Amino acid sequence: MNRLPDHRGLQDTQTILKMYLEQVIREGDIVIDATAGRGRDTLFLARCVGVTGKVFAFDIQEEAILATRELLENFGLADRVELLHKSHTSIADHVHDRVKAVVFNLGYLPGGGNRIITQAATTVEAVQQGLTLLEEKGIIALTVYRGHEGGQDESQKLTSFLSGLSKKDFSVVQGIYLNQGELSPYWIMIQKNRRTIDENPPSEKDPGTDSE
Ligand SMILES: C[S@@+](CC[C@H](N)C(=O)[O-])C[C@H]1O[C@@H](n2cnc3c(N)ncnc32)[C@H](O)[C@@H]1O
Repeated sequence: MNRLPDHRGLQDTQTILKMYLEQVIREGDIVIDATAGRGRDTLFLARCVGVTGKVFAFDIQEEAILATRELLENFGLADRVELLHKSHTSIADHVHDRVKAVVFNLGYLPGGGNRIITQAATTVEAVQQGLTLLEEKGIIALTVYRGHEGGQDESQKLTSFLSGLSKKDFSVVQGIYLNQGELSPYWIMIQKNRRTIDENPPSEKDPGTDSE
């Protein structure tokens, strides 16, 4: 089933990211939209989780919350979504279950009258909270824009934080346009890896060095 409303192939920065999220998110899952904006990502997630799932959607702007509610109501999906007029830095205060996915679409509200943008420090803090809530094989998906003032700073600080995550615990992947210049948008996905049994538990003797 093609759930993508505007499928422009790879011209759309979110195409691969959404195709992967569609595979990972199952009916009944709990997910978070950390930046609701005009609700397109919230709507996408509401479709992915099905009738028995739930989406928590955050935004600090009332305009965004109203626009998202209207979009969801138009599609008859508002009952799957809890809209929170709050910063995503309060994710841990409002979501107490394990989640399958957390989606961030950074930057500013498209068509908004002001230029309230996501900020490096709060974005990193919210990502940290999301990482602690993720189920195994769960995904944090970020779409990052660098063309606006503050965008490059946020991109650099986010990349620096994510580059330091343990490769045992997380897989961090980036999708970038090589032919669109250094300010082009890109996506990042972080998977919480499946826990593996410690292959060398400290209490176990190495048979090769046993002197008895
Ligand atoms: C690029 S827009 C999101 C687009 C949206 N996902 C959509 O599908 O239309 C970024 C949004 O992040 C919101 N935002 C900025 N700082 C935030 C914060 N600390 N917590 C939650 N939302 C924030 C802005 O108000 C804006 O609506």
